[in-house]
Amino acid sequence: MRFLSLFELFVSLGILVYVIVCVEIPAWKLFDHDVYFKVVDPAEIGYYYRASPAKDFGKGFNKYFEHTLLVVADPVQGCSELVNSHKIPGNFILVERGECSFVEKIARCEEAGAIGVIVYDNNPDNRSNLVAMIDDDRGIEVNIPSLFIVGSDGFHIRRALERNSLESAIINVPINMTYVPEHQIRKPPWTKTL
Ligand SMILES: *[C@@H]1O[C@H](CO)[C@@H](O)[C@H](O)[C@H]1NC(C)=O
Ligand SMILES: *[C@@H]1O[C@H](CO)[C@@H](O)[C@H](O)[C@H]1NC(C)=O
Repeated sequence: MRFLSLFELFVSLGILVYVIVCVEIPAWKLFDHDVYFKVVDPAEIGYYYRASPAKDFGKGFNKYFEHTLLVVADPVQGCSELVNSHKIPGNFILVERGECSFVEKIARCEEAGAIGVIVYDNNPDNRSNLVAMIDDDRGIEVNIPSLFIVGSDGFHIRRALERNSLESAIINVPINMTYVPEHQIRKPPWTKTL
């Protein structure tokens, strides 16, 4: 085996740099599995929450959203016209599972201008039921990312907002957990399944 000539070495390096710089992997491809988001405010629920992205509809995340508002839908299940629609545009929306399909809720939020939706399970005591949301096959189009979280997380978030008379939380979503030092990862104390 001979050594690479200097020329060949430069060509190989050039190709490598080109591949790294130009062949960008779309970020959403990297979020096939569970993702995390962090509540920044209110501080009392300032934890890292585990979430499951929609399985077969909508779009994945193509960027990291920092200090974005998570507004509670009104009505909270998002199955009829949102009466707080003026608070929706440009924000993430928190909706409760049930009454209508996932796609219907998320499409309604998108239509009102939401950039993402977090659906929480409607069983406040359930800490483990992380549903992979699937399409209802009615041909409703969804173009925004959506996540599912367990009932205990969803209800804790809602109750904390109510206690603080807030209509929205501030979140970072999604979080690249590989960048977060282990000792900084604060998990919700009521959920032991991270
Ligand atoms: C998170 O960061 C690591 C380390 O830089 C990177 O390799 C990985 O692709 C990132 N993951 C996502 C989902 O962005
Ligand atoms: C949570 O939901 C899962 C799936 O439906 C179920 O198996 C489990 O028993 C539930 N746990 C509680 C505490 O309700």
